[in-house]
Amino acid sequence: MRHLMSPLDFTVEELDRLFDLANDIENNMAKYAHTCDGKKLATCFYEPSTRTRLSFEAAMLNLGGSVIGFSDAGSSSAAKGESVSDTIRVISCFADICAMRHPKEGAPMVAASRSSIPVINAGDGGHQHPTQTLTDLLTIRSLKGHIGNFTIGLCGDLKFGRTVHSLINALVRYPGIRFIFISPEELKVPSYITDMLKENNIPYQEVIRLEEIMPRLDFLYMTRVQKERFFNEEDYVRLKDFYILNKEKMRLAKKDMLILHPLPRVNEISVEVDDDPRAAYFKQVQYGVYVRMALILTLLGIHV
Ligand code: CP
Repeated sequence: MRHLMSPLDFTVEELDRLFDLANDIENNMAKYAHTCDGKKLATCFYEPSTRTRLSFEAAMLNLGGSVIGFSDAGSSSAAKGESVSDTIRVISCFADICAMRHPKEGAPMVAASRSSIPVINAGDGGHQHPTQTLTDLLTIRSLKGHIGNFTIGLCGDLKFGRTVHSLINALVRYPGIRFIFISPEELKVPSYITDMLKENNIPYQEVIRLEEIMPRLDFLYMTRVQKERFFNEEDYVRLKDFYILNKEKMRLAKKDMLILHPLPRVNEISVEVDDDPRAAYFKQVQYGVYVRMALILTLLGIHV
């Protein structure tokens, strides 16, 4: 039995197979419509979500399976003090696979250690968000034809942003990746990540102004300044509108640069950018469903 806690749980070759499957699903949905008949997915979300929970649910429904779960810790027995370990042992009696989001780093890992069904980390605190990374990689591969040999700018909350941490971890295994980290001083990427990049001789640069590096980027990965990760309101208010990508800044970008964003967005991408053909963030959401379908099939060991 396999779980998914980090994108590194799959080798690059396994990821290639997963993305091939996701692309086949994209092109032949009907072929997969009954592959999970009789199977149940449990979505245990202790933290708010729109995309991840609903795309997992859509993925399982598209495969012919069904879904149980909770979207709010307050409506589960966690509110009465039940531990994650006990909850997953109970869920294992009801479902075949579980996607779990939790505000505490490592909680899905604890669940996996006590589970008799595959557990997928659907985001744990500021740590990792592996299925968002699978979504990001599939989007890059599908829209550009390959992963590698590009400069990617990651902009916004690089300190608490679990999507950023997961994506960097995953991209270092591909050739010719150059990182540019764009953030205010207070939201810089953690040193354990820059140390890892130095150890592996992977080029990176840290800057504060988006405009100065815009012309060099092949991808711009925008992120939200996350109110829920701040300890005081004052810091959040000061930093929340630090970056706003608008049409004027887009004029500095390459003609084929792609904008990615895990979403939700607040103010960091002006809605006027949505009509720009380089805005790929809503396509990215659609790829999230295909890759989660492929992941469910893979972890359940279902071959089509
Ligand atoms: N990208 C992402 O994790 O979105 P949700 O918080 O809506 O699931």
